[in-house]
Amino acid sequence: MRKISAISFLLLILLGGLTLAGAGVYSETGHGNPLTGPQREQALARGSCRQCHVSGKARFPKELWRENDNDLCYACHAAENLSGGYPGRAAYEVSAHKTDARFIWPGPTPSARREPNAAGKCLNCHNPHGRQDRIGKISGLLSIREESLCLTCHNGSKATKDIAREIRKPYSHRGMSRINSAGPDDPARYSYSGGNRHADCSDCHNAHAVVGDAVPPIAPAASRRNALVGRIRVTNNGPGIVPRYEYVSARDNSTPLLEYQLCYKCHSSWTRQPPGQQDIALLLNPANASFHPVEAQGKNANINLLSFAGGLNSFSLVHCSDCHGSDETDIRGPHGSRFPKLLKSAYETQGLGRVSNRDDLCFRCHSFATYADTLSAPAQQAYSRFGKHVWHVGQQRLSCYACHESHGSPQFGALIVIGRNPGLRNFSMTAAGGSCTSTCHGSKSYVVNYPR
Ligand code: HEC
Ligand code: HEC
Ligand code: HEC
Ligand code: HEC
Ligand code: HEC
Ligand code: HEC
Ligand code: HEC
Ligand code: HEC
Ligand code: HEC
Repeated sequence: MRKISAISFLLLILLGGLTLAGAGVYSETGHGNPLTGPQREQALARGSCRQCHVSGKARFPKELWRENDNDLCYACHAAENLSGGYPGRAAYEVSAHKTDARFIWPGPTPSARREPNAAGKCLNCHNPHGRQDRIGKISGLLSIREESLCLTCHNGSKATKDIAREIRKPYSHRGMSRINSAGPDDPARYSYSGGNRHADCSDCHNAHAVVGDAVPPIAPAASRRNALVGRIRVTNNGPGIVPRYEYVSARDNSTPLLEYQLCYKCHSSWTRQPPGQQDIALLLNPANASFHPVEAQGKNANINLLSFAGGLNSFSLVHCSDCHGSDETDIRGPHGSRFPKLLKSAYETQGLGRVSNRDDLCFRCHSFATYADTLSAPAQQAYSRFGKHVWHVGQQRLSCYACHESHGSPQFGALIVIGRNPGLRNFSMTAAGGSCTSTCHGSKSYVVNYPR
């Protein structure tokens, strides 16, 4: 008799506290679920408050059955969950969020955590009872909606880099958490399309497994900052043919995570892309006549080392994020840029109009002297197979875009594209030379500077 009333008294206080805390969505969360919710004590109903809050014999504050630290969560969350969205204790223990002493929720809403052992706690991001805001229930037992959650610290205050400023830039993977995404790792093919098209932090980062690599990863590997997220593996077919796609869950680490696989969730025909957007997986297929070496080494093995910039050569591989990323030099990742198409540097896609600038995108990797500088030595210009680059680019002010694809070409070598204006009407390449007609001139032939 005495025991029952003690429990009711406790629950009354607890429920009161919970209401004040602004919850009320407990029964809609994973913890409140009467069928699949927590079951620490077999005798108690799943989803019952008493799975965590005990009466009488409780030795710990808030009537918790044990110390309020991560071990409380690990009591049920030691292992990864089915989707891999939560990778388990071992992964979390070595993540930047667990190990960095600055990782303490700063408030103001919900209020700052002040207990001495706050650093590294799950509770800096999660509320075990769930919360709601003006829009409704916040998914994943998060204490505040995802983008606000991450950016409260990743704005140059708690964490080092200001990602908030990045996503406010004119071109960005921005502000899409408002859309009710189905969760961090949804294998459904069209969960990134139509009205649900979005790019949340957790589509590219698993908050439980981020590790700040000191040295950037070598392409095609993804950084450990992007470890353990869902991705798309491709098995390529012939040139111009859609590859076979396979969704790889976050928990599957049987093959290494490659950065481009992350991007293909949203920028390939695995999903339904916005009208007019290029199918990047189709263009980067190594079976194509030419391609930028993202998935595999390029096809033009004889390019002179001295025609490259940035220490690259014909055998190098590159990341999507070597071209798409911040215009700031000290921030990694494609969060935002002041340049269109989220490019790291300016790139002219009108074909004609301005003199190429040595800071333009292509010259991060291809020598300005070889391709565009009217003042460079003829020997330097001759490192290109095509002897007429500087004339076209430096003298005639053509952008690379007039003649080249950015990702790949199923049909033509050297990333040549036809049909642009200004640009080429047709093109053919042989071992010793090539010929083309263009919007600027009739058929012309050239002799190459080195064999392909
Ligand atoms: C999965 C474990 C778990 C379950 C189930 C659970 N709680 Fe809690 N509860 C906690 C933890 C952990 C804290 C401490 C939260 C913190 O430190 O921020 C807490 C704190 C509280 C507090 C103190 C106020 C606060 O938010 O810190 C109240 C009141 C409370 N719980 C009520 C309830 C009620 C009522 C239920 C059932 C409707 C319930 N809890 C179910 C784990 C749980
Ligand atoms: C007594 C066992 C137990 C404890 C303790 C516990 N959980 Fe859970 N948690 C569960 C179960 C079971 C589920 C899965 C419910 C489902 O599948 O619907 C779950 C689900 C979750 C989810 C996903 C919920 C959703 O609505 O999507 C999160 C996030 C979570 N727990 C975080 C925590 C954190 C943080 C702690 C520590 C404060 C904690 N849990 C403590 C048993 C527990
Ligand atoms: C840096 C913030 C952060 C920390 C710290 C954190 N989580 Fe999470 N967690 C998230 C986010 C973001 C999600 C995705 C929520 C969503 O939108 O469904 C998530 C999801 C989950 C899920 C559900 C995964 C799924 O696939 O549905 C579980 C379980 C979970 N977290 C448990 C934990 C536990 C246990 C800890 C501590 C050991 C922890 N989390 C620490 C941010 C965090
Ligand atoms: C309570 C503050 C806080 C929250 C909330 C938070 N982080 Fe962090 N995060 C940090 C700190 C501190 C580091 C340590 C390294 C640093 O200074 O960036 C870090 C590290 C990282 C890193 C590795 C960066 C590196 O170079 O070391 C990534 C990626 C990251 N967080 C993503 C996220 C995402 C995604 C979310 C939201 C789901 C999130 N963080 C939420 C504070 C936070
Ligand atoms: C979860 C989905 C998602 C993932 C993963 C993703 N993106 Fe995006 N990306 C978007 C959305 C949404 C936009 C806005 C335009 C649109 O709908 O395509 C966008 C826009 C872009 C743009 C600008 C396109 C334009 O037309 O201006 C580039 C470039 C880009 N992403 C590159 C990348 C790269 C590189 C990666 C991998 C590191 C990546 N994205 C991963 C969803 C995603
Ligand atoms: C060598 C540099 C480079 C690499 C590597 C690269 N891109 Fe791009 N990307 C560009 C340029 C330049 C543009 C803009 C001009 C254009 O559309 O051709 C662009 C445009 C885009 C667009 C907009 C397409 C559209 O139709 O508007 C998307 C999306 C995109 N890239 C995604 C990716 C993804 C995903 C990867 C890796 C799988 C990648 N890019 C690799 C240079 C690159
Ligand atoms: C991040 C480095 C990087 C950037 C930026 C870059 N490229 Fe490349 N590019 C390479 C590498 C590496 C190769 C060598 C591939 C090979 O040997 O087949 C290459 C090869 C090429 C080729 C020759 C392909 C062939 O099969 O002959 C062309 C054409 C080309 N790039 C044009 C461009 C243009 C135009 C830009 C600017 C939009 C650009 N690149 C930006 C790294 C880059
Ligand atoms: C489209 C995919 C994508 C999205 C969406 C995304 N990131 Fe990133 N993020 C990356 C990649 C790729 C890197 C670079 C990893 C590397 O090269 O080490 C990165 C790097 C970072 C870093 C480390 C930056 C540095 O210079 O050290 C932080 C912190 C970070 N992201 C936080 C976030 C937060 C917070 C969000 C949501 C607002 C977010 N990211 C959204 C792909 C993404
Ligand atoms: C007028 C058309 C045209 C323009 C403009 C143009 N290119 Fe080319 N490019 C070619 C042709 C043609 C080839 C070589 C075809 C062959 O190998 O027979 C080529 C080849 C290349 C190659 C392959 C390696 C090599 O041998 O040079 C690179 C790299 C390249 N171009 C980069 C660029 C860059 C960077 C720009 C802009 C600064 C640019 N191109 C502008 C027509 C053009």
